[in-house]
Amino acid sequence: MKLLVCNDYQEMSKKAAALIAAQVKLFPESILGLATGSTPIGTYDELIRLYNTGEIDFSEIETVNLDEYVGLGPDHEQSYRHFMNEQLFNHINLDPEMTHVPNGLAANPEEEAENYEMMVECLGGIDLQVLGLGPNGHIGFNEPDSFFTPGTHVVDLSKETIDANSRFFSSRAEVPHQAITLGVKQIMQAGKVILLVSGEKKAKALKAAVTGPVTPDLPASILQLHPDCTVFADEAACEWIYDD
Ligand code: F6R
Repeated sequence: MKLLVCNDYQEMSKKAAALIAAQVKLFPESILGLATGSTPIGTYDELIRLYNTGEIDFSEIETVNLDEYVGLGPDHEQSYRHFMNEQLFNHINLDPEMTHVPNGLAANPEEEAENYEMMVECLGGIDLQVLGLGPNGHIGFNEPDSFFTPGTHVVDLSKETIDANSRFFSSRAEVPHQAITLGVKQIMQAGKVILLVSGEKKAKALKAAVTGPVTPDLPASILQLHPDCTVFADEAACEWIYDD
């Protein structure tokens, strides 16, 4: 695991986008695993800029998102499908048919999780996975638990995640309580992993993920075992490095 401390959010976003852009240029048929949330927005903005200046072409790229809220469809402003369309997909030359997000409106979410898992396997897995970090150390919606869940699954969101994500909804009561998420197996099988971390609210989880034991209590800690994981973090998330 490499930790790259960046001066600020903008530098973090540019550096992460440069690595994704290199993947797209070198391997134009890559499967990109994507995350939502506020952290990757700057990275996606930079990828859009690189596309607009003709530096990258997404025409043969296929994307797989990490997760979706159970109960939210593409028309809901807080669904992750809506987020991806607005923040990235609508602004680059990705074929919409080559973008995958779990269906939050599936009548049977468990079955949807199984189908999503199979779909990712049929694609041959993920070449480069982008992750954000939950304040409780989650990756995707793999929440702290007493064991790691390998496969794609339906998860009950933790109180901390519901609290953290309530900032995107008009009230806490509107935050869905469940999501469909890729498990740690497909994340760990990705060829490359990029973890984006910004802000002091993430500092504690980042320190534990990088320096603590590998434990399902802090799911991101498993990334210590990934052979090619780069953490792009801004200084605010890394203050602990300078303590003592
Ligand atoms: C989003 C996801 C989550 C977020 C995490 C951080 O698809 O899987 O793990 O990456 O909750 O969210 P932000 O970036 O909003 O702090």
